[in-house]
Amino acid sequence: MYYNHPPKFPEGFLWGASSAAWQVEGATKEDGRAVSVIDLNSQTKKPFADNSVASDHYHHYKEDVALMAECGFTSYRFSLAWPRIIPTADGKVNEKGIAFYNALIDELVAHGITPIVTLYHYDLPVWVDELGGWKNRDTIDYFEHYCRTCFAAFGDRVKYWLSINEQNMQIVYGDWLGVSKGCEDWFRDKWKINHIMNLCHAKAVLACHELVEGGKIGPVPGMVPIYPETCKPQDQIAAMNMEEFTEKIWNDTYVFGTYSNFVRRYWAENDIDPDIRPGDMELIAKAKIDFFGVNCYRSNVAKDCPPDTAFTELQLNKDGVKGGFVYPQYPGLYEQAANPYVKTTDWDWEIDPVAMRYLLRYMWDHYHLPMVITENGFGAHEDLGADGKIHDQARIDFLRDQIYQVGLAIEDGAEVFGYNPWSFTDLLSTGNGMAKRYGLVFINTTDDDARDLRRIKKDSFSWYSRLIQSNGTIW
Ligand code: BG6
Repeated sequence: MYYNHPPKFPEGFLWGASSAAWQVEGATKEDGRAVSVIDLNSQTKKPFADNSVASDHYHHYKEDVALMAECGFTSYRFSLAWPRIIPTADGKVNEKGIAFYNALIDELVAHGITPIVTLYHYDLPVWVDELGGWKNRDTIDYFEHYCRTCFAAFGDRVKYWLSINEQNMQIVYGDWLGVSKGCEDWFRDKWKINHIMNLCHAKAVLACHELVEGGKIGPVPGMVPIYPETCKPQDQIAAMNMEEFTEKIWNDTYVFGTYSNFVRRYWAENDIDPDIRPGDMELIAKAKIDFFGVNCYRSNVAKDCPPDTAFTELQLNKDGVKGGFVYPQYPGLYEQAANPYVKTTDWDWEIDPVAMRYLLRYMWDHYHLPMVITENGFGAHEDLGADGKIHDQARIDFLRDQIYQVGLAIEDGAEVFGYNPWSFTDLLSTGNGMAKRYGLVFINTTDDDARDLRRIKKDSFSWYSRLIQSNGTIW
């Protein structure tokens, strides 16, 4: 529907930004933090090889929160590091880890900023991995102990919790995110791992409701809205297949507490046993989520891919030179294709604000649960200009257009209670370190040179601040 007025955001809408512990904190060897698998995985990537400094948020958190307050934030979405809180296999709590997050949360609350806290954002402690990691059902107990520790320590001040960041992407991009390490048959093993993650998520939901008075919890799917390439009927089925295999299977299980007929048929056809044991599905069904955290950066296109098509592996653009992405072909399921109607970033990510409106309506129509945007943003090559500043007009354009579409989705009836783009400060990208920057605040550091880690407000910081002050009515 077209409206004859700009969209309006509800009173009390949460405006903030987002981050994740291993991408922003640094201090990986300080105050008892253990090593995580993502630390090791990152070291296999170029140019980024070390997250021991990152944005040094661990030592700059007060300054960072002061900047959030200056910008006018009313929320901040960040993650807790499991290896900082439970660094050893004996399950002992690291009080210094608890103290750091207590200090951060207190600082946020003192500035009127609502913490939205992710329990797990890719940083599995190496001690868990050595005991079998996501392949081992004991990990469910380790994870539950970690979650309960967090709820007990921070639940008096943190009321919005997020369970697992992008479980779907961890399965879809198992190799890229290090989850497939040690699996002999990833094609089948991933469904066992996914089931264990679903059980971990369920334990977190139940423990949150038990331990946090007034606590609300949801998962964080990584959402990429999918269009059929044409109105050819087979393209529509291909788009539905892609939607199932990249996101819908996960969301359906979170909300309906079952595995859909679609995925069960797929498992049967492909001789896949996800190792569902007695009591598992009852546990999953009991864990009712309160809302969805939604990560969305781009959109995708799918087209028909008949069974006799050659298999082509997806290749991510890993260096930020346009054209590096290779569209995959999955015979009998779907093929990905370029979208001639949208522009792309240097990493070939589609710049598609309308996808945001489509996604929020799609999620609302399917699940009728409130949503908070937990990630959305523009990754770019950036460094200080001759004037010592960052003029990131492209990011302003990106955010403005996306936020406008969030507003339209709200006008359309979707319940959305906050917007937290990725990211507040520059931080390490999953595969491109500081070479791919997302922040409203520049961090003066590079992958090769730590520099002085100075915080420098980008133009987008001032623009976003004005937008927040107007509750989303300046364009
Ligand atoms: C999300 C992740 O998928 O995308 C973040 O939750 C990640 O951790 C973000 O940083 C952007 O991706 P990338 O690869 O550009 O860092």
